[in-house]
Amino acid sequence: MEQTPYIKENVSLRRFNTFHIDATALYFIEVNDYKQLSELIESDFLNKNPHLLLGGGSNLLFTNNFNGIVVQIKNKGIESFNSTDNTVLVKAAAGENWHEFVAYCVDKGFGGLENLSLIPGNVGSCPIQNIGAYGVEIKDCFYSLEAIDLKTGELKTFHAIDCNYGYRYSIFKGELKGKFAIWSVTFQLNLNPVVHVEYGAIKHELEAKGIENPGIKDVSEAVCTIRRSKLPDPEILGNAGSFFKNPTVDLKFANKLRESFPKLVSYPLTDGNEKLAAGWLIEQCGWKGFREGDAGVHENQALVLVNYGNAKGSQILTLAYRVLNSVYERFGVKLEMEVNVI
Ligand code: FAD
Ligand code: EPU
Repeated sequence: MEQTPYIKENVSLRRFNTFHIDATALYFIEVNDYKQLSELIESDFLNKNPHLLLGGGSNLLFTNNFNGIVVQIKNKGIESFNSTDNTVLVKAAAGENWHEFVAYCVDKGFGGLENLSLIPGNVGSCPIQNIGAYGVEIKDCFYSLEAIDLKTGELKTFHAIDCNYGYRYSIFKGELKGKFAIWSVTFQLNLNPVVHVEYGAIKHELEAKGIENPGIKDVSEAVCTIRRSKLPDPEILGNAGSFFKNPTVDLKFANKLRESFPKLVSYPLTDGNEKLAAGWLIEQCGWKGFREGDAGVHENQALVLVNYGNAKGSQILTLAYRVLNSVYERFGVKLEMEVNVI
C-alpha cells in the first residue's frame, strides 16, 4: 500500500494509554496540523483501514492489537476573543492537555471549568463523553467545536444542540462515532465567576482550609486535592478512571431497592429518577481490592479497575464482566461501561 512518509508501523501503544496495556498498532501517525490530516484523508488511508482517533488514551481499553491506523491528534494553541462585559470565548486546539488548559483559564480568571481540574486527557476528547466531575460537565460552558469530516476533510462547526450531550454521552460516542476528528473546542467562560461548591467534598475541603469566600483558584486546588486522595495516579497504577457509569433508575425501583438495602447510595435527579453510586454497588458485591493476576479493582475506589503491571486488556475486560454480572445478580441493576473498549 502506498504510504505517506510519517506513518509508523507496528507501534507499541503501551505509553499511549493510561491502562498501560501492551497492544500494538499496525499503523500509527501523529497529526500536528490540518495539512497532515487532510493529506491522510486524501491518501484514502483512513477509508481503507480501521482507524482510531487518540488523545491522551485515558478512556480506552485495548483488548487486542489494533489492526489499522491510530491517529493521535496533537495540534496546539489557545486563543481568547469576543469578550462581552461578563464572558469570554476561549478556543483550544484538540491536542492541548485538558488540565493545562483548565489551569490556563483559572490563571486568567476565566471561570467555569475549575471543577474539572486534573481530569486526564486532551481538549479534543472532552466533548466525546461530556466529561464531568464535582457537579459540573463541559456542556455547562461549551460554546462550539470544530471537527473534521474524516471522509471529505471538511471542517464543520457543531454547537451544543448538535452534540446531543447527556451524562457521559455525546453524538460523537453515538451515531457520529469515529466519523469526525474534533479539532478545537470553544468555551464561553465567565469573567465574574460564580463558584460551584455544592458538592460535599469540595465544601469540606474548603472548610478544612478555612476558606470562606472561595475563588476559582481555591475551587481548582480543592478539586485537585480531593482527586489526588481518591483516584489512583495512572503514572503509578494503570487505570482509566471510572470503568462504569453510575446507573440511573426510576424512583419506584430505587425505593424497592432501599427496602432490601437501606444504605443504598443514591442521588435524586431533576427528572424524578435517581442515580445510584456504582462504586457502592460494586463494593457491596465484595470486589473492592480484588486482584487476579495483574487485573484488579482499586482498593479505595471500587468503580476503578486497575492494571498492576502486565495485565492484558482482555483480562481487565473479563474482570469487568464478572463485576457487571455480580451487580446485576445482587441488585438487578445493569451497569454500563464508560471506558471505550477497543
Ligand atoms: P482518549 O482516551 O484518547 O479517547 C477517548 C475517546 O475519544 C476514544 O473513543 C477516542 O477515539 C476518541 N477521541 C479522542 N480524541 C478525539 C478527537 N480529537 N476527535 C474525535 N474523537 C476523539 N472522565 C470524566 O468525565 N470525569 C472524571 O472525573 C474523570 N476522571 C478520570 C480520572 C482518571 C485517573 C482517569 C485515568 C480518567 C478519568 N476520566 C474522567 C476519563 C478520561 O479522562 C476522559 O474521558 C477524557 O476526556 C479522555 O481524554 P483522552 O484524550 O485521554 O481520550
Ligand atoms: N462509593 C462506595 N465505595 C467505593 C466508591 C464509592 O461506597 O468504592 C460510594 C460512596 O458513598 C461515595 C459515592 O459512592 O460517596 C460516590 O463516590 P465518588 O465521590 O468517588 O464518585 P463516583 O460516583 O464514584 C463520579 C464520576 C467520576 C467523578 C466523580 C466526582 C462517574 C462514572 N464517575 O465518581 O468520574 O470524578 O464522580 O464527580 O460518573 C470518570 O468518569 O472516569 C470519573 C472518575
